[in-house]
Amino acid sequence: QSGPPLDAPAREQWGSRLGFILAAAGSAIGLGNIWRFPYLAGEGGGGAFVLVYLFCILGIGMPYLFAELSLGRNSQRNPVGAIEAIVGKRSAWLIVGGFCVLAGFIILSYYSVIAGWAVGYAVKDIIAPGMGFEAFVASPTLVITLLAAFLGVTLLVVLGGVEQGIERWSKILLPVLLVLILLVIFRSVTLEGAGEGISFYLMPDFSGLTTEIIIAALGQAFFTLSLGMGAMITYGSYLSKKENIATSGIYVVVFNTVIALMAGFMIFPAIFAMGVDPATGPALVFVVLPEVFSQMPLGGLVGVTFFILLSIAALTSSISLLEVVVSYFVDERSWSRKKSVLIIGGITFLMAIPSALSQGAVPSLSAGGIFGPETGFLGFMDYYVGSLGLALGAFFLSIFIGWVWGADEAAQEMMQGSNMSAQVLSVWMFVIRYIIPLVVLVIIIGYITGTL
Ligand code: PHE
Repeated sequence: QSGPPLDAPAREQWGSRLGFILAAAGSAIGLGNIWRFPYLAGEGGGGAFVLVYLFCILGIGMPYLFAELSLGRNSQRNPVGAIEAIVGKRSAWLIVGGFCVLAGFIILSYYSVIAGWAVGYAVKDIIAPGMGFEAFVASPTLVITLLAAFLGVTLLVVLGGVEQGIERWSKILLPVLLVLILLVIFRSVTLEGAGEGISFYLMPDFSGLTTEIIIAALGQAFFTLSLGMGAMITYGSYLSKKENIATSGIYVVVFNTVIALMAGFMIFPAIFAMGVDPATGPALVFVVLPEVFSQMPLGGLVGVTFFILLSIAALTSSISLLEVVVSYFVDERSWSRKKSVLIIGGITFLMAIPSALSQGAVPSLSAGGIFGPETGFLGFMDYYVGSLGLALGAFFLSIFIGWVWGADEAAQEMMQGSNMSAQVLSVWMFVIRYIIPLVVLVIIIGYITGTL
């Protein structure tokens, strides 16, 4: 049996346009903006990476975001249901929907581990004063307790439902996030020597630009906009037919981009002012920044603020990951929201344990163990699901939307509630059908041939 029973209560919807925009922006804004984007920019040479990234967001990410939102709103169902509404129960395309749900599970599991570190770092002076990052993430009690705490809060929000949970908390948390970011930026750019960081960040130097960097920027565009695994299909499914998908989508993209750019303004001036190398990779935020904070005036306070804001950003994303899975069980299996949240939350917690233990606590799960010399279980999941997986998801979903459902049908859905011109629409249809599958294929080939 699938689809809601005939006597089911009306499906939930967003309470307001602003509520949707903030919830979707909350999904987009996360570890991707504040942890991943700065270290990629640091490794990719600063300004040049930023420019390529902006291009990928506007040219590829944004049009594809409209497509996912339209697919979700069309059927008002989860990713599997949305595909089924178009091709029926027996189609192999349902596998793509199933992949979305599975990816939601998996990404949520390791994402919550990293978010747990952020929570721990916010209260580090109390729970583990003076402890280095390596020892911190290798402590099984610390990481598992923090994971449980973070996941627990995620469950509580999603338990509240679309409007009373996700929307309400996004409306509170996003403004708080913004204020905290502004505080940290203010401290960072007023440090002596901050100017050098700002010019590294803003002055593009294309001499170091490589294919790897371009591919990383493209992958980041998908990750940061929560694309390729149905989060935006799911959030789109709670949109009313009166809502203007393109306008709301543009707001989401703008918010997300502004926050990523602001993250750079928090981090690079401070890093350069303290004479630290920006190209330190994933450790940038957890290893380098605390070091930087410890050396600067008011650093203790800034550090706590920074990790609180990182935790908040991660929370508004993790709720969207959980909601993808919950919406599937609510729509397709007729489970109650409460039952779905509790069962899925429990399984996610169990699945997250190997990731949590993969940073030194259990050697065979960590780097140098069964997943290779450089990655542990967490890195393995992030690579195969969070990077390659999202690209594959976006590839199949864009083919599905552009060719199976049809770009013209998708455009019709997007047009409801909007007054887009015919020219803009035809450009969009072209991008969905040709450009996006092609570009994503390049990313996939890039990943597979190991240029990354
Ligand atoms: N966009 C989120 C971030 O930048 C991550 C995410 C990916 C969330 C996919 C949902 C789906 O942190």
